[in-house]
Amino acid sequence: MARLSSWLRLAALIGAAAVLAAPSFEAAAGADKPTLTRGKGDKCVEDTEFMRRNHMDLLKHQRDETMHKGIRTTKHSLKQCVECHAGEKSGSVAASKEDFCMACHSYAGVKLDCWDCHATKPMAKKPGQAEAKAESKASPLMPNSRNGGAKP
Ligand code: HEC
Ligand code: HEC
Ligand code: HEC
Repeated sequence: MARLSSWLRLAALIGAAAVLAAPSFEAAAGADKPTLTRGKGDKCVEDTEFMRRNHMDLLKHQRDETMHKGIRTTKHSLKQCVECHAGEKSGSVAASKEDFCMACHSYAGVKLDCWDCHATKPMAKKPGQAEAKAESKASPLMPNSRNGGAKP
């Protein structure tokens, strides 16, 4: 019995140490953690918890694959993130602090240069509209004309 209880104490200590050693975003964010709007669809491209921690690596990897090896898959494409995560109000992922990517990043003090080149809004989907027509010809890499030139 004595052996079992000391084992349990040890296990508890290890558990606590593991929790302390793994600084999670939630833990760091504390009480005023940003509220995130849920993405479209029922799930993300990967497990939610995985995405929370590793989305930056996915995106960078994806970029390297595209830019340096000429491989193009859409699974972890930045365009897809924007399609599902653009905010209702702004239609963008990074126009205001309520928008998905910004909500976390402004809290965490992360600044992205991605939006200098990449669109923060989904591609227009209503081909009937003049604006949409113009946009469908525009490169997805010229987002700022759609932003009114404002950088997020
Ligand atoms: C100086 C301009 C520029 C900046 C800044 C930039 N990119 Fe890109 N990015 C490009 C170009 C050009 C391509 C290739 C375009 C294509 O193939 O559609 C590309 C392609 C990508 C792709 C693959 C295509 C896609 O839609 O998934 C990803 C992912 C990507 N970039 C992520 C990022 C991320 C993340 C950042 C910020 C950390 C970033 N980029 C910053 C210019 C830029
Ligand atoms: C098909 C739509 C879809 C696509 C594409 C998508 N997501 Fe998601 N994402 C979701 C949904 C839905 C959730 C919420 C899942 C949940 O609540 O379990 C989510 C959750 C997340 C979370 C966790 C949010 C939280 O509450 O902590 C992050 C981070 C994230 N996505 C980033 C990305 C990035 C980066 C990309 C592009 C590589 C991307 N997502 C592509 C739908 C999508
Ligand atoms: C759940 C909170 C959360 C959400 C939502 C989120 N991010 Fe992040 N992101 C972070 C944190 C925290 C970091 C910094 C991680 C670090 O420093 O290791 C980060 C870093 C990044 C980086 C790397 C920046 C760099 O310079 O190294 C990229 C790229 C990125 N996020 C893209 C996105 C995109 C695109 C979206 C929206 C589709 C998004 N993130 C949504 C929390 C989030």
